[in-house]
Amino acid sequence: MTDTAYLEGLLAPVPDEIDAVDLPIRGALPPELTGRYFRNGPNPLPGQDPGHWFAGPGMVHGVRLRDGRAEWYRNRWVRTASLAGKPFVSERGVDRTAVPANTSVVRHDDKILALVESGFPYELTPELGTVGPVDFGGRLTTAFTAHPKLDPATGDLHVFGYGALPPYLTYHRLTAAGELLDTRVIDVPGPTMMHDFAITEHHAIWLDLPVVFDAHLLGRGMPYQWNDGYGARLGVMPLGGGPVRWIDIDPCYVFHVGNAYEDSAGNVVLDAVRYTPGSFLAEWSGIGGATAGSEAAHAGGGRTGGASRAAGGVVASDAATGASLYRWTIDPVAGTAAEQQLDDRSVEFPTINDALVGRPSRYRYTVGDTEIVKYDTGSGAVTAVDVAGRPGEAEFVAARDGAAEDEGWLLSIVSTPGGSELRCLDARDLTEVGAVLLPRRVPAGFHGCWLPD
Ligand SMILES: [Fe+2]
Repeated sequence: MTDTAYLEGLLAPVPDEIDAVDLPIRGALPPELTGRYFRNGPNPLPGQDPGHWFAGPGMVHGVRLRDGRAEWYRNRWVRTASLAGKPFVSERGVDRTAVPANTSVVRHDDKILALVESGFPYELTPELGTVGPVDFGGRLTTAFTAHPKLDPATGDLHVFGYGALPPYLTYHRLTAAGELLDTRVIDVPGPTMMHDFAITEHHAIWLDLPVVFDAHLLGRGMPYQWNDGYGARLGVMPLGGGPVRWIDIDPCYVFHVGNAYEDSAGNVVLDAVRYTPGSFLAEWSGIGGATAGSEAAHAGGGRTGGASRAAGGVVASDAATGASLYRWTIDPVAGTAAEQQLDDRSVEFPTINDALVGRPSRYRYTVGDTEIVKYDTGSGAVTAVDVAGRPGEAEFVAARDGAAEDEGWLLSIVSTPGGSELRCLDARDLTEVGAVLLPRRVPAGFHGCWLPD
């Protein structure tokens, strides 16, 4: 592995923005898929090395589908203040518009937003032009997660922001009309990297895990690293705000939540992709993150070529285990959390039928190196299909309102060195329905979304 693996192979950026129309299709696309598929990810400018995969400027790839046709593909950088050369930190403080906007795309209150967890959302047009940063009338003064949670019952968008300076964690609630109503500081002991969280019908669940800001790493890439001394906790908070019940768990890291819900016994059930300390270190070092003890990390510019010791001395003997789907069953009254591995495949990017966010739901979808995987958490059955390429996050699109939980399609960009396709799979059995042959390779990136007309 080289020091810049995040600029190579399937992660290599593309050098320019292009447009293509009337794209070739294999198979048949369901006419119900009329709308846009947008996928965000880092795409450094030609010659640029951001120091970490997560730090490259965001580029959104879009495919416009209508009535079984693929009308266009285009890719556009998000025109952020960062892309224009403005610094994130200066003598005037932190500029939350000088961020890469590279992680996800969501639509709320008819606004399409490109998100990154370090700063403000950037509004995009349906044609992928950049409107500009959004601070909700000046009410947003913190960062804004790339993984907001839309409550399917209320239409509220639950959001948080984390940062290196106090307050380390802040919760926000936006109404269905896009008004930022509530902002509450959540008390946590330190500045951890909190990439995702979960909601249920009545709770928000915080992931206070031991990947912690380190000022010595400022200046290049991501100034966060594993910290053995921090501990690991889940926090259960009344949705909307209130006292947080913190529950210690075995140290681990979670980038992504699958779903959470309340069971009939009053437990909070949380499904997420869990990294062991060693698998986190292996992943983090592979994308530009510091992984060694603080002295070595600082002397070596934050990198030690995949060293397998964490700060504090965890020996990363579990590096090869990868990240896998786990379940925590939390008793918020007793303050306990039982941990269970649901499957040992190495996967990431869990998705669900978004109509069931925070509600009991049976199916989870994830991707492995060359597989798309479906879990039936009711029966325990796992279905995996090899897609002969690297699959990106598989976005679930329901066939219609009121359909069965898995009646719909999965959309995933599958890439090889030779190119990329937008695959459409039947979510019930993972068979391919059709695919759009894209005019160029799409670099492996982060999160996509389907925006129906
Ligand atoms: Fe993410």
